[in-house]
Amino acid sequence: MTLLQIMAATDAAEVTVRTTDDAVIAAELAQRGITFEHWPTLSNAAAIASEDLLAEYADRIATLDAGGRYRHIDVARIHPDESNPEWPALAEAAREKFLDEHRHAEDEVRFFAAGRGCFYLHIGDEVLATVCEAGDLVSVPAGTLHWFDMGSRPDFVALRFFEEEDGWIGDFTGDKISAGFPTLDELLAAR
Ligand SMILES: [Fe+2]
Repeated sequence: MTLLQIMAATDAAEVTVRTTDDAVIAAELAQRGITFEHWPTLSNAAAIASEDLLAEYADRIATLDAGGRYRHIDVARIHPDESNPEWPALAEAAREKFLDEHRHAEDEVRFFAAGRGCFYLHIGDEVLATVCEAGDLVSVPAGTLHWFDMGSRPDFVALRFFEEEDGWIGDFTGDKISAGFPTLDELLAAR
């Protein structure tokens, strides 16, 4: 289930909002300029090939990209593979990539077709931990300070929308703020 937990940027223990109510989540995010919406989910999304997944969502994608803004649309996927001895290291490397606070020159637009991940949006004096699950589409505006945690057992399929091919590259602030906030695992455990 999708979850939003809003905390003071200076003190993660100061929780002002914690909700799994989709309407409240969308409203809280909209108030802060964040687009958040739901698309229908496919029961076996994780097993569907990327090309087929893009075809399944072609109508939704066309609507989102009505202005032709997103020149690169792809599918990012990561699934646990316990049979691979390299998996723990691969998972950790993937996770660490975006765990530190950063921003992008363009909007970060992601649709979770399967699995989950948490965006932490550092806006003004708040941090909004937004756990996205299958069916959630989030658009983090260009320049917004944020980080992303895919958890200790990364598992998701996400459609990514880029204006430029290197749109995913992060501009890291060097601020270690993320270390003071609950991880995705901790947010879920507190449910
Ligand atoms: Fe990012």
